[in-house]
Amino acid sequence: MSNDKTPVSVIGLGRLGAALAAAFLADGHPTTVWNRSPEKAAPLEAKGAKVVASVTEAVAASPLVLTVVLDHAAARSLLEPAADDLSGRTLLNVSSSTPDDIRALAEWATSHGADYLDAAVMAVPQAIGTPDAQVLFSGSANAYERYGSELEILGTTRYLAADPGVAELFSMGLLSAAYGTLFGYVHGVALLDSANVKPTEFLGMAVQWLNGMLAFLPSLTREIETRDYTSGESSLEINLHALEYIEAASHDAGVDPGFVLPTLDLVRKRLEVAEPVHSVAGVFETMLGRT
Ligand SMILES: NC(=O)c1ccc[n+]([C@@H]2O[C@H](COP(=O)([O-])OP(=O)(O)OC[C@H]3O[C@@H](n4cnc5c(N)ncnc54)[C@H](OP(=O)(O)O)[C@@H]3O)[C@@H](O)[C@H]2O)c1
Repeated sequence: MSNDKTPVSVIGLGRLGAALAAAFLADGHPTTVWNRSPEKAAPLEAKGAKVVASVTEAVAASPLVLTVVLDHAAARSLLEPAADDLSGRTLLNVSSSTPDDIRALAEWATSHGADYLDAAVMAVPQAIGTPDAQVLFSGSANAYERYGSELEILGTTRYLAADPGVAELFSMGLLSAAYGTLFGYVHGVALLDSANVKPTEFLGMAVQWLNGMLAFLPSLTREIETRDYTSGESSLEINLHALEYIEAASHDAGVDPGFVLPTLDLVRKRLEVAEPVHSVAGVFETMLGRT
């Protein structure tokens, strides 16, 4: 039976690589796989993947080659022996790293004649293939034009910029926002534990509260974009008091206050140059080292 789907090679079959390879197989792509620990290829072979014994064979097998390993350094060291075979292919790197490390990997791959595209996957592997999986791309616009429609099977896809590091930068922005929320929630649970309140008693209230907080993001964004912090809804002084209370209450309850301390520090630094009534969003300037 003829197949007009692009042949794909997936190098790295950990949790994410295996999910991506399975999604390509399910969509009918001829799929070649390689993994350092070969036993992880067996379930994909059972689904129709071709298993190869070397990265060089994996690169040679397909015009679209994915690396889904620990980081850029692992991807680069795996690809080095296959560098001559990269020419004319598209390298789609899904391994996470800093934007600068991704740029260096892109430069190296491009110097060997590859089109480089980077993907940041904002999802757990189980969500791959559903709209809940946000997959962000940056790098070669030509590569995205060629393969973007086929990559839509992975989730909700977006091409962001020609700069290959930009997808990772978005990923880090989203993760930073999530970590603030998730670790802050755990700190809240720890505070309540000191009064024997069960986490489940807190959960519903926290979800309602955090959903309400999300509605606050547009006004923060407007203040940051206009750099006008004079009429914000939430002042530095009110938030300074709240953060100081949380620090003191944590000490009283025997809970590590570490989560709130960097934020308290930022607010105090901002107050050295801004009015107490100014918006808390002005810490943006402090983060960038502006006054
Ligand atoms: N899982 C997620 O939810 C998720 C979401 C977004 C992005 N990511 C990113 O996707 C990448 C892969 O994540 P994962 O969840 O699939 O991780 P994982 O399950 O821990 O798998 C790691 C993969 O990298 C390989 N690997 C690690 N170091 C290597 C090296 N030095 N040389 C060759 N292969 C090496 C492993 O090979 P072995 O099997 O031989 O150990 C395995 O295939 C990471 O950069 C991660 O940040 C993951």
